[in-house]
Amino acid sequence: MTRLLLTPDAEHAALAAATLVDELIAARLRETGEVHIALAGGTTPRRAYELLATLRADWTGIHLWFGDERDVDLDSEDANASMVHRALVSPAQIPATQVHTIPTDLGPRGACDAYSDELSRLLPAGSAGIPALDIAVLGLGEDGHTASLFPGSPAVLGAGSVCVVVEDAPKPPPVRITLTMAMLNTARTRIVLATGAGKADAVVAAMAEPDPLIPASLLARNATTWILDAAAASALDEGTRDA
Ligand code: 6PG
Repeated sequence: MTRLLLTPDAEHAALAAATLVDELIAARLRETGEVHIALAGGTTPRRAYELLATLRADWTGIHLWFGDERDVDLDSEDANASMVHRALVSPAQIPATQVHTIPTDLGPRGACDAYSDELSRLLPAGSAGIPALDIAVLGLGEDGHTASLFPGSPAVLGAGSVCVVVEDAPKPPPVRITLTMAMLNTARTRIVLATGAGKADAVVAAMAEPDPLIPASLLARNATTWILDAAAASALDEGTRDA
């Protein structure tokens, strides 16, 4: 069942997300000595990553992946990789060998293929042979997208593949590389972080019945934690909020 963590504001939501990721990392490291996390891009999770960098001194065995990437140079301000680098990788001094970026220098198709191969090589196979991440950190768009799975995108329903190229994303830039919904739902756990009143309607839609036009509503309900601030939770009915 979906777990809802309600916090008063964006700072508390970021701290709750960082703390939960840190706890999940610790639990998985105890079990297997290795943990694979896919990170969300966008602006919302940046603070959570900054806080996560301060919570953990030892990053041995922790591998970072990306839920999606924009088709831009990875050093550019627009790249999710560069945001994660500034907020987490650099302050926490995580070795480059543990940071698995989506290699956009190969072009979108080449990047997608290379990234799929790397995921398949380094992660254990989960259901339907899809590589199983331990943790997928996700964001939510105002239109209900998550990662770069936008309403109406074939990647939302595509089963079996790990990663796809999106060529007409409504959120710029239009060309993106994203994990598929099947891949996100094969992860052992999901954390969706959303803050601000602009996300309130999308939160309600994402928690309603699954609808391909609201991609985030297709995220597995089981082992998924939504972390919201009061503004993002403001349109939820009381029953959902108290559940
Ligand atoms: C991206 C994303 C995307 C993002 C949401 C929310 O690359 O843009 O990974 O799914 O998480 O659009 O973005 P904000 O946090 O900026 O609102």
